[in-house]
Amino acid sequence: MTWTLTSGVIHAFWVLCTRNPLADEDWAGYAALTRPGGHATRVARRGAAQPVRAMADTPTLEKAKSGEMVDSLGYKLMRPGVKVAAKETLLTPRFYTTDFDEVDEIFNLKKNPNLPMEELDAMLEEFRKDYNQKHFVRNEGFSEAADAIQGDLRKIFIEFLERSCTAEFSGFLLYKELGRRLKDSNPCVAEIFTLLARDEARHAGFINKALSDFNLALDLGFLTKNRTYTFFKPKFIIYATYLSEKIGYWRYITMYRHLQRNPDNQLYPMFEYFENWCQDENRHGDFLTAVLKARPELLNGLEARLWSRFFCLSVYITMYLNDHARHYFYEALGLNTTQFDRHVILETNNATERVFPEVPDIEAPGFWDRMDRMVGYNTKLVEIDNNDAPEWLKKVQKAPYIERILAECLQLFFMPTKRTGSLDIEGAKNYVY
Ligand SMILES: *[C@@H]1O[C@H](CO)[C@@H](O)[C@H](O)[C@H]1NC(C)=O
Ligand SMILES: *[C@@H]1O[C@H](CO)[C@@H](O)[C@H](O)[C@H]1NC(C)=O
Ligand SMILES: *[C@@H]1O[C@H](CO)[C@@H](O)[C@H](O)[C@H]1NC(C)=O
Repeated sequence: MTWTLTSGVIHAFWVLCTRNPLADEDWAGYAALTRPGGHATRVARRGAAQPVRAMADTPTLEKAKSGEMVDSLGYKLMRPGVKVAAKETLLTPRFYTTDFDEVDEIFNLKKNPNLPMEELDAMLEEFRKDYNQKHFVRNEGFSEAADAIQGDLRKIFIEFLERSCTAEFSGFLLYKELGRRLKDSNPCVAEIFTLLARDEARHAGFINKALSDFNLALDLGFLTKNRTYTFFKPKFIIYATYLSEKIGYWRYITMYRHLQRNPDNQLYPMFEYFENWCQDENRHGDFLTAVLKARPELLNGLEARLWSRFFCLSVYITMYLNDHARHYFYEALGLNTTQFDRHVILETNNATERVFPEVPDIEAPGFWDRMDRMVGYNTKLVEIDNNDAPEWLKKVQKAPYIERILAECLQLFFMPTKRTGSLDIEGAKNYVY
């Protein structure tokens, strides 16, 4: 009974969210942005202070039986030095698209003459200053550090880099398109989105350059065309991107501070860049706060409260399960995955509570027990995925664990929450970085 009910609800929700009226649209515009010499690639090149090592490290390449090219760690390659992107699952970073006409309705200055633009204009000035313009210049140590990372840790590292690169790149694509579509109806917001895209492209390019230290760069232009785009309504995009920027900030800054205190665990020089890097995420989050405040209907009423609760939980649960499935990575950096995640969620929830009308009460008794139980079920799912059983049998074996996870999610949704939020957020006017 629980199974049918929960799966029915979740499935209905999933269909709603992934319905994609733009699926047939021509994405050529995106391809142009990322083609060699296009924007993303150019940024990546500028980021490199040193020549990239020869990508065609042919001695390590092997032809698999099926004729696929694989590298020495078993990664499938599209061509030498370019990795086939990991398979998409429910928990991998996604690419998003939205209803751009509805976005236009939200920001169009003619249709919304009362949009409070003062704060947004001030933010545009901040973004134009481009504080990190000179920050992403690689230092000497990258290739050497990459070579020193071997064995299982190398795989885990590559996976971390790939996920991070895909997530940053996903932000780039979405912001770039928003900037393009709003150019006429609201030039200020359009330019801010374009500048956010600039930051994300820089991050994605920097991480992809790191992947090339491992001889496994991603072909971002191909990804742009080849990935499926998940459709989200504009208001959901605003909630979800606000949360992902804030949680990204807390992840980067927490790792950075930890590694500053424990320099022996700093396995790869990329982490040294996180302090200024994450200020980009923080600024993006503050811009999305301003957007939310400009549209009070997103922050008031029952519907807004339910969506706030839903998005907070989705983001926290996804991160908690993902990170625990990759706990070796965090342990290699000397972090305790559970403590790290709880800290990041606590801080994100604390920041979000000043904006969203309602957030989960993560200190409520039982909250973390449920999260930890889900980690246990998810571990089982990963084990089943890795066994040699036929696909149909795996599906049968997985069903009870998926049911348990969905039931825990549903129960988390109905746990106590905190009614929060305030439209006159203190200090929001004098953002200082
Ligand atoms: C992505 O590329 C792969 C391999 O080239 C192909 O099999 C798949 O159908 C493509 N998917 C989409 C959505 O274009
Ligand atoms: C990590 O921290 C949690 C909570 O403090 C603790 O229960 C767990 O044993 C720690 N794990 C490791 C591997 O130290
Ligand atoms: C929550 O945020 C406020 C304001 O930034 C800060 O003073 C407080 O210490 C934070 N609480 C926690 C638990 O981090």
